[in-house]
Amino acid sequence: MAGSMLSFPRGFLWGTASAGYQVEGGNTTSDWTDWENEPGRIEAGQKSGRACDWWAGERWKEDFDKAAADGHRTHRLSVEWSRIEPEPGTWDMDALDHYRRMIVGLRDRGMEPMVTLHHFVNPRWVTERQAWESPAIVPLFEAYTRKVVSALKDHVTIWCTINEPNVFMLQGWVGGIFPPGKKKLGLAMEVARNILRAHAACYRAIHDMQPDAQVGLPVHFRPITAARPRALDRWAARKQFETFSTVFPDAIRTGRIRGIFGSTAVPEAKGTMDWFGLNYYTADVVTFDLRKPGELFGSRAFPPGAEVDEAGVYASYPQGLAWSLEWARRTLGLPIYITENGFGDNADTMRPRYILSHLREVWRHIQAGGDVRGYYHWSLIDNFEWERAWTHRFGLYAMDIESLVRTPRKSARLFAEICKADGISAETVSRYAPELMEGFFEDKA
Ligand code: BGC
Repeated sequence: MAGSMLSFPRGFLWGTASAGYQVEGGNTTSDWTDWENEPGRIEAGQKSGRACDWWAGERWKEDFDKAAADGHRTHRLSVEWSRIEPEPGTWDMDALDHYRRMIVGLRDRGMEPMVTLHHFVNPRWVTERQAWESPAIVPLFEAYTRKVVSALKDHVTIWCTINEPNVFMLQGWVGGIFPPGKKKLGLAMEVARNILRAHAACYRAIHDMQPDAQVGLPVHFRPITAARPRALDRWAARKQFETFSTVFPDAIRTGRIRGIFGSTAVPEAKGTMDWFGLNYYTADVVTFDLRKPGELFGSRAFPPGAEVDEAGVYASYPQGLAWSLEWARRTLGLPIYITENGFGDNADTMRPRYILSHLREVWRHIQAGGDVRGYYHWSLIDNFEWERAWTHRFGLYAMDIESLVRTPRKSARLFAEICKADGISAETVSRYAPELMEGFFEDKA
């Protein structure tokens, strides 16, 4: 197979993704600022601190230099509502200017920016007002959207509205892992509806101000299948899958939230997605279990034989990415960006395999006619991993949280080779993950 190459389409967007709160540091105005300071919320009591110092120290510059030198053509970042509107109706123009400089910084380095308006974090006042629990959030989120778009629209065409609405809603209102830390299923359904309304208002505001914008919604998508070919396992797997993975894209397709307790109309959300953002990390198999009513009677496990990351949170299951892409193509029929895909592996012994085996599935999907426009690896650099803080490392670059020194992992070099070659060569596979060589290029004509 020497000389073989899995080539990607011309113009394919290779890059990485990040989120404001996880990399900026020094945020004093958000709900996460308070959350981090509550005892027991964050593993080992760790803090985001200076994070990767993209704010005060502007160290985004050196990280964007690295990304550009590695051949990346894009970066997905998020702007923080809590910095832009720290108090209701008070707009921090310096913060907007900071983001403008970062985005121009990407363009100057030849990288296309993708900008997310909301990535889990809220201004403190939004959470204090419980604004996501009522339709009051909609005009607030629209006003914020309009401020951001008017400041950045000359430099940004690809927008994400609300990152992973399913995770934001479930962690905040069902699992109690993110602020506001509630465990109220009924309220969560109301929040889901308000998220969809806010998303729809945001989608329309962006198009109103920038008709050629491309606006999408990234969903944390997890294929969940039956552990055994039994009706009850299948039932529990389907319920979990629909509740977690498809409820938001399905509502945008149909204008209805089809939840476990029936269906609710959200007509304004229908058709408000120009492309689908697939955040894929892992998959599950489910066994029916009467002892788990809170998990829709399904006991979850990773697919047998799948390699599990060091925190035991994600398993490497590339077939799940293939399945997710196929689901999106069949069900939504929209262009797809893989807006996140990655593996928490501090030692970087498994990540090269993870990257190569997942990208192979992307290549196969494109060969079969799928419309995938880009791949954003999570993440460029180790960053503040929410409730797991610094204990779970996703960076192509490792970072020492004391000195802030960045060091390329082997995976950074691997990904750079792929970006620069616009594909995966047999030589690359044999150097970074020789164990994958057998059969890796078998579909290559
Ligand atoms: C989130 C990221 C997070 C990543 C890794 C995604 O669900 O969008 O913010 O860091 O998962 O767990």
